[in-house]
Amino acid sequence: MNKDKDDVGLNHYRQYMLKNVVPGMKIGQPLITDNGKIVLHEGTILNEALIKRLHYWGVTELVIHDGSDTSGFFQAVPIPISQELQRFTKDYQETIKVLSQAFQSVRYFNEVPLNQMRELANDSVSNLVNSAGVMNHLQMVRHQDEYTFQHSVNVSVIAGVLGKWIGYQGPELQDIILTGLLHDIGKAKISLEVLNKPEKLLAEEMHLMQTHATLGYKLLRNIPDLPDEVVVGVLEHHERMDGSGYPLKLDGGRIHPYAKIIAVADVYDAMTSDRIYRPKVTPFFVLEMMAQKMFDEYDPSVCSVFLSHVRDCFVGSIVQLSDGRQAEIISTGQFLFTRPVVRTADGEFIDLETNKEITIAYVLKA
Ligand SMILES: [Fe+2]
Repeated sequence: MNKDKDDVGLNHYRQYMLKNVVPGMKIGQPLITDNGKIVLHEGTILNEALIKRLHYWGVTELVIHDGSDTSGFFQAVPIPISQELQRFTKDYQETIKVLSQAFQSVRYFNEVPLNQMRELANDSVSNLVNSAGVMNHLQMVRHQDEYTFQHSVNVSVIAGVLGKWIGYQGPELQDIILTGLLHDIGKAKISLEVLNKPEKLLAEEMHLMQTHATLGYKLLRNIPDLPDEVVVGVLEHHERMDGSGYPLKLDGGRIHPYAKIIAVADVYDAMTSDRIYRPKVTPFFVLEMMAQKMFDEYDPSVCSVFLSHVRDCFVGSIVQLSDGRQAEIISTGQFLFTRPVVRTADGEFIDLETNKEITIAYVLKA
């Protein structure tokens, strides 16, 4: 979180490093982490559990109100971090570490460590895919750094979950997970300057970035024992049903089913992730965008399986509404994904489909 000290203004407010914050201190400004995960209201009294959670989520500093009068302040509803999420986060971070080493080995030695990738797909990522609440945990574990590796792991997990929902199992499902891990491996051959550029890419940089699909194909095509389906899935993951994709501008009938699954996983993760040049949007908004575009760009049968399952995953999630209140998702919207029925912390039921002036601002706990 980046708060300018000058913005704080009043004498009663001071910026503290988190390590200097102690229980009993009162938050002086609403707190939103860079990746929008945890929001604490102004006036929340910190306790040990809250401070621990702030450390856990990587908050480094926050604005504290030095006054002693606590009247009129809102007490945030505690949002516990479950043991499952902690375990998921640990496994997830280890998977990212191994994948980042694989990218290094491609970048500097031109070598895809296939056995290691297969092991990662069959063990670590499969475990993530099979853990209860996987789509919710994914929503919570994101960090801004290491986007490429994190994105590859996310796409791999989401593709595995989606593959399962479609009905794939056994070696086919493992190949889909492997395709997800490898789908952007061609980016290891893109200059770091372009790959890590924080601003929006220029047209020629975008063109260079788009070569990653073909670069990935070239890295993988001659590896013995790697199924053709995986190689083709990597090559075609940016093809679109209406022929508007790249590199081959294939139309829907010619795109490999694995590539169609990766495409849906890819767009969902890219849109729900934090990017420096674009604020993150909620999964509800992403689902709605996907529902609108699905008939043009994504395979409707793949997309509809994804949308119908994911919408149910977020029943029970805790969100912050645009009016500042916390609320729980009670049931998904009948017509619009972004407008479910919610219950606020004080027990009021709100149907966002009929109360158009209120929107979901953040997901606090997926
Ligand atoms: Fe890609």
